[in-house]
Amino acid sequence: MPKHIGSLTSGGDCPGLNAAIRGLGKTARDSFGMRLTGFLNGFRGIALDQSVELNDPMLSGILTDGGTILGTSRDKPHRMNIGGKLMDMTDAIVETYHRHHLDSLVCIGGGGTQKNALRLLEAGLNIVTLPKTIDNDIALTDRSFGFDTALQIATEAIDRLHSTATSHERVIVLEVMGHRAGWLGLEAGIAGGADVILIPEIPYQLEEVAKAVRRRTQSGKRFSIVVVAEGAMSADDAARVASLVAAKEQAASKKERAAISEQLDQFHRDHADHTIRLTRALEQATGQESRLTILGHLQRGGTPSAADRVFATWLGTECAAALHSGANGVMLALQGRNIVQVPLADVAGTKKLVPPNHPLVTAGQRVGTCFGAGGGFGS
Ligand code: F6P
Repeated sequence: MPKHIGSLTSGGDCPGLNAAIRGLGKTARDSFGMRLTGFLNGFRGIALDQSVELNDPMLSGILTDGGTILGTSRDKPHRMNIGGKLMDMTDAIVETYHRHHLDSLVCIGGGGTQKNALRLLEAGLNIVTLPKTIDNDIALTDRSFGFDTALQIATEAIDRLHSTATSHERVIVLEVMGHRAGWLGLEAGIAGGADVILIPEIPYQLEEVAKAVRRRTQSGKRFSIVVVAEGAMSADDAARVASLVAAKEQAASKKERAAISEQLDQFHRDHADHTIRLTRALEQATGQESRLTILGHLQRGGTPSAADRVFATWLGTECAAALHSGANGVMLALQGRNIVQVPLADVAGTKKLVPPNHPLVTAGQRVGTCFGAGGGFGS
């Protein structure tokens, strides 16, 4: 019997998903004689047994397409909204897996997907995962696909904002995505020559940012570009989060822990308009007209960059080869110039954040970029 592989894409979409599906599907079929079934809309599709055969017509002509031919969702196997009720669908997923006589399930996704995939591994399924996300925050892999495309889009946005900022002598703030990690902000900021880069890993002080803008003005540069990663926080906010996290770890009861979790969730919900408030505060502190651009989902849409097409194709093809050799419980990762298998258990639940002393932060400081913090960081 040929091996039968299931596949799904889960979490936020990103450019390169179709390239990965194509690489996996073509290699599985043509090099190893396997069958491939795709489940629709993330874990929901396997929970509700909604699938499609990934045959030649499905896999052709999709390399350059953005999004995912399988659809995606943020559904979690153990807490899925079914008809308005949150249900644990793990058993239903296990049943679908066996009903289709699958030998393995390939879950393509970001940090949340890796955690959910581990849950299914622990429920007894054979699981292999691939790392995708524009945030580049998945542990144990140098890169996730989608990041390169988002980086290009964000960099182009900074380039375009430069000319209008100069013409009007304004401060232009650009918010980029990245969730709680600063990779996209850091790299786009450096690529676009931002004057200030604010990332979650380096809590900022408004006065340091204002000082950097004023210094530019005094030196005759009457515009500034400030790149803000969506998770960036002031030092005060970061201290508040740190104290809540510490309190949660020390909580004596489940109830107390849940209450602190709710406070943390509320903080992050309120933080959603942080860049709007920051832009206003910066205008007040500098007296210079300021404008905000929130790049949003433009960073995730459209055709993948050449680098993402290559990387996603490589991952997909290596995944088929790994499945052929019996791989299980692993994520395929880029380490150096190689694709390697890393234990899913070591990836799930761990985020790859920007170390505040990362060489790219140093590079930014050396070209005069302000990271919003006093002391050791450029100000
Ligand atoms: O994880 C990718 C990402 O684009 C993050 O950068 C962002 O915080 C989040 O997804 C947005 O999610 P959604 O599309 O569900 O609003």
